[in-house]
Amino acid sequence: MNPLAPICNPKYSIPRMIGRIIVNHFHHSCRLNAKSKIQSSHEWILRQKKDPYVEKARVMNYRCRSAFKLLEMDERYRFLYPGQCVVECGAAPGSWTQVLVSKTNSDRKDGGKPVGQVISVDRLPLYHVEGATLLGGSDFTDKAVQQHITELLGNGKADAVLSDMAPNATGVKELDHESIAQLAYSVLKFAVKISRAASKTVCLIKVWDGGRSKQLQTEMQRFYKQVRTVKPSASRMNSAEIYLLGIGFRGLLKKDACSQQNIS
Ligand SMILES: C[S@@+](CC[C@H](N)C(=O)[O-])C[C@H]1O[C@@H](n2cnc3c(N)ncnc32)[C@H](O)[C@@H]1O
Repeated sequence: MNPLAPICNPKYSIPRMIGRIIVNHFHHSCRLNAKSKIQSSHEWILRQKKDPYVEKARVMNYRCRSAFKLLEMDERYRFLYPGQCVVECGAAPGSWTQVLVSKTNSDRKDGGKPVGQVISVDRLPLYHVEGATLLGGSDFTDKAVQQHITELLGNGKADAVLSDMAPNATGVKELDHESIAQLAYSVLKFAVKISRAASKTVCLIKVWDGGRSKQLQTEMQRFYKQVRTVKPSASRMNSAEIYLLGIGFRGLLKKDACSQQNIS
């Protein structure tokens, strides 16, 4: 038999063989992906069933368990109050918004207290929350969206900028860390521009812990009198999620205005 036959035979031509390898590899990884997707959704259902915060959120009518992270952080640091003007980034499905309209009294439920303002943004659609201005389907990193938020600020300045934004995770740790760090930096840059200089003014940013979160913390220390790293108990222990809370915005000095351009 001609030893070159497998190569000469068009049935075994090199492009055809490479094509077959790619197709096989694709089918194999699809099978693995489908299997791991089924397994992880199964794990998700089990975790939800066991999670006390999921049940608590259902009973208290919060749209998701994240509400308890904000409630706990506020309980510890007391940074939300009636009359406050808050910008919220990454708001869907809306449990933080529910907490915010009540804490700032932007829902006007307490006639005796100052009325605040809550502006909430998300790439996803947002569904009505009494007392909040919702910018659903809006990418916060888009300059036009940031301009729109600035125009909506009733008295020109925000008392709090909060971000619970998270990118779609790829599973590649370094890549995901980099994406959330970029979102976090865009929040800090915006907060520095639109915040009122005052000891009560805060900026709260979610990150996934890693090299860039230390850098962000150092960056925040330039603009806020105190910066705390917080891991609320409602945040799952196996998650790298932490929050950086800057308290007491110093305001922009002239030299900061230049270096603010350098917030990477
Ligand atoms: C963990 S969820 C927020 C949960 C919310 N705090 C709550 O209590 O309901 C993170 C959100 O960030 C949003 N997000 C991610 N990147 C964004 C971006 N560039 N602009 C606006 N929203 C973004 C996602 O769409 C997602 O809804």
